[in-house]
Amino acid sequence: MKIFLIGFMGCGKSTLGRKLATKLGYDLIDLDHQIEKNTGVTVGDYFAAHGEDAFRKLESDTLKSFDYPKNCVIATGGGTPCFFDNIEWMNQNGTTIYIEMPAQALAKRLESGMAKRPLLRNLTAEGVIEFIENKLAEREVFYHKAALVMSGISLTADDIRVEILARN
Ligand code: S3P
Repeated sequence: MKIFLIGFMGCGKSTLGRKLATKLGYDLIDLDHQIEKNTGVTVGDYFAAHGEDAFRKLESDTLKSFDYPKNCVIATGGGTPCFFDNIEWMNQNGTTIYIEMPAQALAKRLESGMAKRPLLRNLTAEGVIEFIENKLAEREVFYHKAALVMSGISLTADDIRVEILARN
């Protein structure tokens, strides 16, 4: 089974993904890490050198061409479901879970990780909450196409495991 974790930057996809994969005995694939491995540069540097459009194309190609093991958890990037037909592709190829979190909570969790995120790195502390609110509103239509929506507030890997096993 392939489990795709989707949601805004800072919602916990990578951390929960790692824990969930361990609990299930599955492999974890972190899409951003995979892109960094393939290109040899960080996502931030790739954005800076080639721009967002090129990154989105590469992200979609990486998502669709990766040689996934039979059972795995995939931590996607915050924008992955929102470009091309990526969310439809993920829904056809696995179980998608949207980790939902309000803008205020995301802003708090992103305080320390702004510099490594190209979309946030030039924003002021005041600007970040407005940016998150707007971006989240724009992206929610894609996120809500997920098979499962779970609140990220106090969500544990075990909560996800139980939900997944109940469905499959
Ligand atoms: C992005 C989120 C990032 C990364 C890139 C773009 C986005 O991943 O893919 O910086 O558009 O929301 P995380 O959600 O893991 O931070």
